[in-house]
Amino acid sequence: MSQPVLFTPLQVGKLDLSNRIVIAPMCQYSATDGCMNDWHLIHLGHLALSGAALLTIEASAVLPEGRITWADVGLYDDRTEAAMQRVLDGVRAHSAMPIAIQLSHAGRKASTEVPWKKAKQFAPDEAQGWQTVAPSAVPFAEGQAAPTALDRQGLQNVRDAFAASAKRAARLGIDAVQIHAAHGYLLHEFLSPLSNRRQDEYGGSLENRMRFPLEVFDAVRQAFPADRPVTVRVSGTDWMEGGWDIAQTIAFAQALEAKGCDAIHVSSGGLHPAQKIPVAPGYQVPLARAVKAAVKMPVVAVGLITGFEQAESIVANGDADMVALARTILYDPRWPWHAAAALGATIRVPSQYLRSQPHQFKNLFESDSE
Ligand SMILES: Cc1cc2nc3c(=O)[nH]c(=O)nc-3n(C[C@H](O)[C@H](O)[C@H](O)COP(=O)(O)O)c2cc1C
Repeated sequence: MSQPVLFTPLQVGKLDLSNRIVIAPMCQYSATDGCMNDWHLIHLGHLALSGAALLTIEASAVLPEGRITWADVGLYDDRTEAAMQRVLDGVRAHSAMPIAIQLSHAGRKASTEVPWKKAKQFAPDEAQGWQTVAPSAVPFAEGQAAPTALDRQGLQNVRDAFAASAKRAARLGIDAVQIHAAHGYLLHEFLSPLSNRRQDEYGGSLENRMRFPLEVFDAVRQAFPADRPVTVRVSGTDWMEGGWDIAQTIAFAQALEAKGCDAIHVSSGGLHPAQKIPVAPGYQVPLARAVKAAVKMPVVAVGLITGFEQAESIVANGDADMVALARTILYDPRWPWHAAAALGATIRVPSQYLRSQPHQFKNLFESDSE
């Protein structure tokens, strides 16, 4: 059997990845005042033993008001950095899996309740709420308090906060940064004409709407060590008439690439409550494929990628260079092992687990400590 492409290595910038399976960022809504705790140690720790190539830490807010919920992780002060350090020390003691972090600002979608309680946005005067910010004073959903439109000083503060968090990530030894410009959060709000109604040089034309996200990219790129990748996650479309779409995504991806972006991760949606998403297996893969046709940097596909053959065909057909898994790998944290078994590849596992290799597989496992 020839080597499955899913289990071939890939370089992202100067970072070596052992295969094409990436763990997507997943908010846990379990932080204590922005600080990671033992939940994150267990959660990230078990995913770090999964055999995937890269673990992406959940959307981590660059400012307290950039958290989606009051229980989001932050990386905006010494306390949040120290809490993350403790978790990373624990994870790294037992796993060599490279670790990326998604740096995020939730914009007008901040100040919400954790999703498993009643979904709602808190008004600024409620105990767990705060005043949100956005490109324009347009709320996400009807009935929500209007965000404050960022002025020049506000833009500067957010840019500086992204850079400061990137410096903290560098100090923590994190291997790569992913800038969150998807899912209707702050940077996506600048990109989409549905949320960006500005009259200044940050609104209107596509060039103007891309300006702030590109400035944030430059600030992060400058703040993070040159030999470590900076990547971006985008929504390939708003799934809305008159919204952000794949043609604009391609223009943005090309602009990012020209600035030295190391990879682009193509998701979709999240900008508007009336979006109509054609949810189906691999429904976002065509968006990744369209971006891949227009750039040279590696492209990540995500969204309802659950099957081993499905994942293999995405990377083998050249739809994308990597697949990212979110719900799939929460449901089955050994998905990469099972994929290796199904596709006839070898996978590195902790020595402590070597004896779990089922009898029918002769060379499925190799130790990760050799
Ligand atoms: C529990 C959970 C938390 C998530 N948190 C984030 C996040 O922090 N940042 C992000 O960009 N996407 C987040 N997502 C979206 C996933 O990264 C992914 O794009 C989406 O779930 C589709 O992939 P899947 O079908 O493999 O789950 C989250 C998804 C889930 C299920």
